[in-house]
Amino acid sequence: MTSAVGEARMKRIASSIRAIPDFPKPGVTFQDITTLLLDPMAFRDTVDLFVESYVPGRSKICGVEARGFIFGPPIALAIGAKFVPLRKPKKLPGDVISEEYSLEYGTDKIEMHVGAVQPNDRAIIIDDLIATGGTLCAAIKLIERVGAEVIECACVIELPELKPLEANSQITNLRTDFSNFKLLHYR
Ligand code: PRP
Ligand code: MG
Repeated sequence: MTSAVGEARMKRIASSIRAIPDFPKPGVTFQDITTLLLDPMAFRDTVDLFVESYVPGRSKICGVEARGFIFGPPIALAIGAKFVPLRKPKKLPGDVISEEYSLEYGTDKIEMHVGAVQPNDRAIIIDDLIATGGTLCAAIKLIERVGAEVIECACVIELPELKPLEANSQITNLRTDFSNFKLLHYR
């Protein structure tokens, strides 16, 4: 995004995200997108910047709980794609497949309804933020396990101090293999 208009939109998005020090624990600076949601122009620009780069009719937008549920659905509606929620454990009522991933301490899981993504679907994964990349890698694995292709991962914010690209080779590969690993907001 090089045009002056594009830069103005990026600036507006960046300045609408609030940094809260020492949340959820001392030493962590939380990137709070609720202030972006309170700025309708910044919210619209965020959605539009993704939508403008997508070919209409991509089969599935997969949003990662919880904040991927905020950005994913408006993007899906705009491009005429189906929306699939990737949820935290024990939230989905039907049969699920799960993928475990590592946290700083312990593990977590994300789950998807069986049949929500079909073999040969071309999926875009949306979340608000990539830190270590663990969540996104689990989402990629989940979708690839059912025989679908992940054609893009898109986040609004990256936390480069956590070196997500070094921590997860799958993310590195995605970045290298596709020019379509999209991050709107670099810090
Ligand atoms: C945050 C963020 C991403 C994930 C990124 O979600 O929204 O989904 O962490 O971290 P990673 O790259 O190290 O995996 P979180 O699980 O804290 O909860 P929420 O979205 O439900 O608020
Ligand atoms: Mg999240």
